[in-house]
Order: sequence, then C-alpha cells, then structure tokens
Amino acid sequence: MTDTVNQGRFKNPVEAVLVGTKELIRVKPNTRPINDADQLTGKTCLITGANSGVGWGVAKLWAERGASLIMACRTLVPDRAAELRELSGNLNIKLYELDLGDFNKIDAFVTSLKVDGVKLDISLFNAGLGAAKAKKTALGFEELFQVNYLAKFYLVNRLLAEGVIPNKTIAGNRKDGDPVHRMMFTSSDSHRGAQPINTETLGVFYEYGAKGGIANYSYYKLVLNTFAMELSKRLNKEGDPVDVSVLPICPGPVNTNIIRNAPPLLRAVLGAIFKIGFQPPDKAAPPFLYLAAAEEVEGKTGLYMHMKTEKNMDDKCYDAEAGAALWARSVELLAGIGRKI
Ligand SMILES: NC(=O)c1ccc[n+]([C@@H]2O[C@H](COP(=O)([O-])OP(=O)(O)OC[C@H]3O[C@@H](n4cnc5c(N)ncnc54)[C@H](OP(=O)(O)O)[C@@H]3O)[C@@H](O)[C@H]2O)c1
Repeated sequence: MTDTVNQGRFKNPVEAVLVGTKELIRVKPNTRPINDADQLTGKTCLITGANSGVGWGVAKLWAERGASLIMACRTLVPDRAAELRELSGNLNIKLYELDLGDFNKIDAFVTSLKVDGVKLDISLFNAGLGAAKAKKTALGFEELFQVNYLAKFYLVNRLLAEGVIPNKTIAGNRKDGDPVHRMMFTSSDSHRGAQPINTETLGVFYEYGAKGGIANYSYYKLVLNTFAMELSKRLNKEGDPVDVSVLPICPGPVNTNIIRNAPPLLRAVLGAIFKIGFQPPDKAAPPFLYLAAAEEVEGKTGLYMHMKTEKNMDDKCYDAEAGAALWARSVELLAGIGRKI
C-alpha cells in the first residue's frame, strides 16, 4: 500500500497548522465562559497524557478547581504529579503509569485503578501523537493507529467493563440517581473531510511519509469520533436517561510537543508557527473545564466542542453503519492480539 491510502483534510503539515491558526480567530464561541461555579471538588478525574501540552494545561486547571486527579502518564520522570501538588496546593493528585503502546501496561493500569478502588467521575482520553512517517509497533500495527485509536478503544472498554467508569449498561455498578460519568476525548477538527472509514484496510500496516502522517492524523481522529458516537449509542438508549456522557473535544491549535517527531527542518518551521500563531495550553484548557463541570452539560451525550464552540462533527462520524462496522473491526483486531473487551 502507498502513502495515499488514507486521505485526510490537508495536503501537508504546513497547510494544517496555517488553517488551525486561522480557525483560532474565526471560530466564534457559542458556550458561556467558565466561572467560579465550575468546580470539581469531590470529583475523581482521569487525564491520560497529563504530563505535557494539552493534558498538562487541563490538569493544572482541574487541580485548581479541586479535582482528585489521576494523571496517567508514559513518562514518569520528572514526576509531574508532585510538581502539580506543589503548584496548586491540591494534595489529591496521583501519578499512574500508562503506555498506550503496550497492551500489558494498559491491563496493568486498569488493574491498579480497580485494586485502588477508583471510581471515576470524569475521564479525559487525551494522550496522542503526530507522526512524520510510519512506525511499526511490536504488535505489527502502525503506531499512530495503535496509540491514537485502538489502544483507546481497548482502554475505555476495559474501564467500563471493570466498573472503574461506573455504568449500568456493561458493569451494572451505577444506580439510578448516581452521578453520570463524563467521558471526554481530545480529538481534532482536522477530522473534517477525512475519507470514510475503510474497515478492510484499518489496522493494516503500510509505509508513509510526512504527507501520509498528516492525512492519517486526521483520518484516525475521524475514526476516534466515530467510535465515540458508537459508544455513546451503545451506552445510552434513546429515550432513557443518560448512563455515561461521551464528549469529544478539539482544543484548537495549541503550542505543545505534538511536532516532536517531525524532521528537524520541518519541526523548525512548524515550531515557529506554533509559537506565534497557536495558543498556550493554559488558554486551551477552559472548554475542558466547561465540559467537565458545567451544569449545562449534565445528562447530555454526543455533543462535540471545537474550542468554545458546540457544533456538529463531520456527518460521517454519525453514520450508524460505519460505527457498527468500526466496532466489529476493532474487536476483530484485538482478538488477533489475544485481547477481548
Ligand atoms: N496541539 C494541538 O494543536 C492539538 C490540536 C488538536 C488536538 N490535539 C490533541 O491533543 C492531544 C495531546 O497532544 P498535545 O498537542 O498536548 O501533544 P504533546 O505535548 O506531545 O502531548 C502528548 C501526550 O500524549 C502522550 N503520549 C504519546 N504517546 C503515548 C503513548 N504511547 N502512551 C501514553 N501516552 C502517550 C505523551 O506522553 P510522553 O510525554 O510520554 O510522550 C504526552 O503526554 C492529542 O490527542 C492530540 O492529537 C492537539
């Protein structure tokens, strides 16, 4: 297979970051600004990839608002939980190891939460990467596909099955009147315009370069959003009160370490644009607090935010047939590596 198997929204990474910069100015907010009433005291919140970029920005804001925070990180040194306890004065912050490139570590993470008796009120599946070229993982998948999608599919389903994310539908450990878990995914508006999901090629490794990297990034965000809508449907029967809220969100363009895998020259060009045109992680964090804490979000599922704007995703994300086929393919790929949900 070639570089052009998956078609994304952008022709190259420079076009992608320039469009992101424009959208920062053009997309008009239609939700209220966060305020002092948006608090997380008494809420147990998980953030994956909490040590860097968007995850770190959100972790700081949620810690300031009183959350009991679980920072799930691949990189454990420096200890960002200790740093955040110091910075925020909030002592209810714990660090757990989570490497989405290693399914044994995902299992170990889920087991640790279960053994520690954790019941999550809010989760943010945020960890992700950008790729400048294809990289095969130990399991034979392409890294971007595994980390940005399949590992999340597995992790979320394991947390639901074990009741770490309380729910009536699968674990049966949530009662009427209990708080509704809010599950958020850090997605990207770049999913818009990506090609429809092809379940035959999904999960099949092929070589690609920088152009394929940007196409695959947006394609796997479309895949992630489609999974989120399918999950929302499976967890929430139409007409019944919501069991688990599923809420994808795009932070907009944020100056983070996401371009760390780009070749040096491209990294220098993109880095300069990021520095001037992109928002710092602290500025990107408020909509994540809105989704986590706002009363307006209570009992809602399937809503998508692009920065401070609630809007529809690409129509393809709501395609019921595509969602069901994606679910079946994901289960099949997991079975191929000896895992089931
Ligand atoms: N930056 C933007 O403009 C932008 C826009 C839209 C969406 N996003 C999304 O925001 C999310 C966070 O990215 P970022 O921009 O904040 O980039 P970042 O600063 O590079 O942060 C990425 C985070 O993901 C973690 N991660 C990467 N691979 C992992 C793995 N195999 N297992 C566990 N954790 C892993 C990283 O951990 P390590 O430090 O250990 O590598 C880091 O904590 C991503 O999902 C990205 O797609 C970003």
